[in-house]
Amino acid sequence: MSDFLITSQRLGLRRFKASDAEDFSELLTDDEVCYFEPYDTYTLEEALTKAEELDGDERFYAVILKSTGKLIGKVYFEDKMFFGAFEIGYSFNRRFWDKGYAAEAVRAVMDNAFGVMNVRRIIAEADVRNTRSIKLLERVGMRREGVYLKSAYFQKDENGDPVWSDYATYALLKEEWEQSRS
Ligand SMILES: CC(C)(COP(=O)(O)OP(=O)(O)OC[C@H]1O[C@@H](n2cnc3c(N)ncnc32)[C@H](O)[C@@H]1OP(=O)(O)O)[C@@H](O)C(=O)NCCC(=O)NCCS
Repeated sequence: MSDFLITSQRLGLRRFKASDAEDFSELLTDDEVCYFEPYDTYTLEEALTKAEELDGDERFYAVILKSTGKLIGKVYFEDKMFFGAFEIGYSFNRRFWDKGYAAEAVRAVMDNAFGVMNVRRIIAEADVRNTRSIKLLERVGMRREGVYLKSAYFQKDENGDPVWSDYATYALLKEEWEQSRS
């Protein structure tokens, strides 16, 4: 029996398991995948322990390609404990970009959140330079609420000074999601 919590046409979403280590390490050790993430690229050794750390963690979905059983991505979805808002985030193996898988997974999580979990508001943030992420948020129907200038940094320049990032914030309310489906 499958342990998927959510399914879509091509994907199944379930909790992480320690046995996901190898597939998951493909994302975590890739500089391009980690560039806009709030952490440095992992070494292979570090990456291989990460799936175990996330084993059963309810803030994350492991995204599985149903046709092969391979783990191709991660979706983060957490109750921000702020008037019922949940935040969504995502990261996919670069070999599986440009196939619509990330958008399909994000839509499936949003449909489940609004339709089954009765979530009221979903938010997301993306570095304005992260055009793939911004395109994805707009593709799944999220609405830009604003841009926070120089609000965070995850890299330093050659002098050790922070490289500040501007963050675009997006949101979608349950009623907007319902309207988009009618
Ligand atoms: C952000 C990220 C998940 C986006 O992945 P992606 O593959 O570009 O996103 P999508 O799933 O929306 O795929 C979109 C592309 O697939 C194409 N595509 C191909 N086949 C498709 C299909 N069958 N169905 C839908 N789209 C398809 C679309 O046309 C689109 O390309 P376009 O933008 O040129 O039109 C990915 O770049 C990533 O993991 N980045 C690193 C981590 C990161 O930055 N996370 C966000 C931090 S805020």
